Amino acid sequence: MEFIDLPMLLSARGSVRLPGSKSISNRVLLLAALAEGETEIRDLLESDDTARMLEALETLGVSVQSLGENAYRVRGTGGVFPVKDADLFLGNAGTAFRSLTAALALAGGDYRLFGVERMHERPIGDLVDALRELGADIAYLDKQGFPPLKIRPATIRASGLVKVRGDVSSQFLTGLLMALPLTGVETSVEVVGELISKPYVEITLAVMARFGVNVVREGWQRFTVSSGASYRSPGVIYVEGDASSASYFLALGAIGGGPQQTIRVEGVGSDSIQGDVRFADALSQMGAHIEMGPNWIAVSSPLSGKLHGIELDCNHIPDAAMTLATTALFAEGPTTLTNIASWRVKETDRIAAMATELRKLGAEVEEGADFIRVTPPRAALRTPNNGIDTYDDHRIAMCFSLAAFGTSLRINDPSCVGKTFPDYFERFSTVTQPVPVIAIDGPSASGKGTVAARVAAALGWHYLDSGALYRLTALAARRADVPWNDELRVAAIAAGLDVVFGENSILLSGEEVGEAIRQEEISSGASQVASLPAVRAALLFRQRVFRLAPGLVADGRDMASVVFPDAATKVFLTASVEVRAERRYKQLIEKGITASILPLLLDLRERDERDSQRSVAPLQQNEDAELLDTTDLSIEQAVTQVLVWSKKAL
Ligand code: DC
Repeated sequence: MEFIDLPMLLSARGSVRLPGSKSISNRVLLLAALAEGETEIRDLLESDDTARMLEALETLGVSVQSLGENAYRVRGTGGVFPVKDADLFLGNAGTAFRSLTAALALAGGDYRLFGVERMHERPIGDLVDALRELGADIAYLDKQGFPPLKIRPATIRASGLVKVRGDVSSQFLTGLLMALPLTGVETSVEVVGELISKPYVEITLAVMARFGVNVVREGWQRFTVSSGASYRSPGVIYVEGDASSASYFLALGAIGGGPQQTIRVEGVGSDSIQGDVRFADALSQMGAHIEMGPNWIAVSSPLSGKLHGIELDCNHIPDAAMTLATTALFAEGPTTLTNIASWRVKETDRIAAMATELRKLGAEVEEGADFIRVTPPRAALRTPNNGIDTYDDHRIAMCFSLAAFGTSLRINDPSCVGKTFPDYFERFSTVTQPVPVIAIDGPSASGKGTVAARVAAALGWHYLDSGALYRLTALAARRADVPWNDELRVAAIAAGLDVVFGENSILLSGEEVGEAIRQEEISSGASQVASLPAVRAALLFRQRVFRLAPGLVADGRDMASVVFPDAATKVFLTASVEVRAERRYKQLIEKGITASILPLLLDLRERDERDSQRSVAPLQQNEDAELLDTTDLSIEQAVTQVLVWSKKAL
């Protein structure tokens, strides 16, 4: 399984230029294809969903030319697609599937529309029923009421009035409205049931207006497209930044900006046609400080430092509301989000998925058919050992990135963000400041453990002795009678280690083992299990979880190269093998253990050899690490030198 490990965050600040809005991009693409004339689209979103729409239009014979830098030229067809018989694969792009179904059913032709498995579980019956009222010939290829669909040429009737349900997905109304000009006659749409996600319908009406079709709206119940309405290219059209994508950054500012530290998003603001900009109001209700210009929004956290929970009807911000569910982890008191039934029929059942993953972080969650209530954990967030699952849902992946303010976090299958925001995690890292790490690597008995622990104490930071985890694995394997070279079984033991590190104690399954793991035999076992790639993989996240505010000093062999490659300070601490053997000898004698130098020297040489020759994460000085040779230095001198380097880096 793929994953991304997010370090625990200290703060967030900076500016983000948003990718184009998914909702606007796919509407503009379709209307540009249906219009008379050529349209130049600028700032189009580059993502899976828009890629599916672009592919579909090309399959339908529409000429689409990439102009570079997210700009495209679309030659309009005047509503007549050149290709009259085609199979279209639309992935999990709801915006493309619903609107193309309506457009193709009314334009006429033989078309088959497919999606991924989840798309085939998302209802479309209400839209098909409405289109059938107009005479469209649409059949279900599998389950009644769900994709895939087969569209056949049909005679479209002037029925004057068509009804569509509005309480499952507003995309049915959107699809229908965008296709109605193809009928050529005046048609009204009556919405049955309460219309959800109204702001998305507003986007539809605004984009249709840009292409010359003005819909007459009577409340949210009835919409009329007049006879003779037809799409005309506006020439050049700019796509706004994505307001739903903005929500993650705005929430970062609200949680971690600090009163002096602001996150600013560029590309949406008070002039936006996207309802999700109202997400900023929700953050403001939670206590965040918001400023807004025509095409920017800036957020910082409350002066009091703490957000507070709210109760909110989220009909107007269904997608961005998901971001509130994870922001709630950092608020005082519960947050209740209501009127979110549509979450259940999105990329996944989002209410169920949110509840499951929030509980992994220690939150108390209550869920119902159309609401979710999140009560944050009293103390720190819990760290899910197996990571946060993302359900092939881009928004789940992005929402949970916020939890990194409470714990280092593994997010499984993060590439699902490609649906709307392919470089989300890169952008995330440019505006967040992780807990700093000082990584100290070096050979056995170099004194790095002592130096690292003292540096941590001097700074008041946490300390990770990563070697202890390999030693614990070797000890646990020995106790379970598992040979040290049995890679898979040793890795399973490493993954399941029940360890508690105390101030001066290490408990393995409740038993003190501080002494036991330092035995020479276990040292040798540690070096053997450390050469197994599966063991190293199993211990990777366990090590990263030690990264806790205000900072971490970590010692080992691959701290700088593998475990904390973004460490602020990297040190390679070594000493001649003779001096190391002598230091180890003195240590043993002090503990009353009989020893002699020569075997210690030979053993250190052997371990150096194995640690530096192994194929995975070998011991070596990282190219960006400072070299600290302690052969002729005291511990105090070594500690002082590391502190000097770390001050420079912070
Ligand atoms: O640092 P130490 O002597 O306690 O380490 C015990 C063994 O674990 C040693 O043989 C090297 C290995 N190790 C490793 O491979 N990677 C680390 N980050 C830490 C230790």
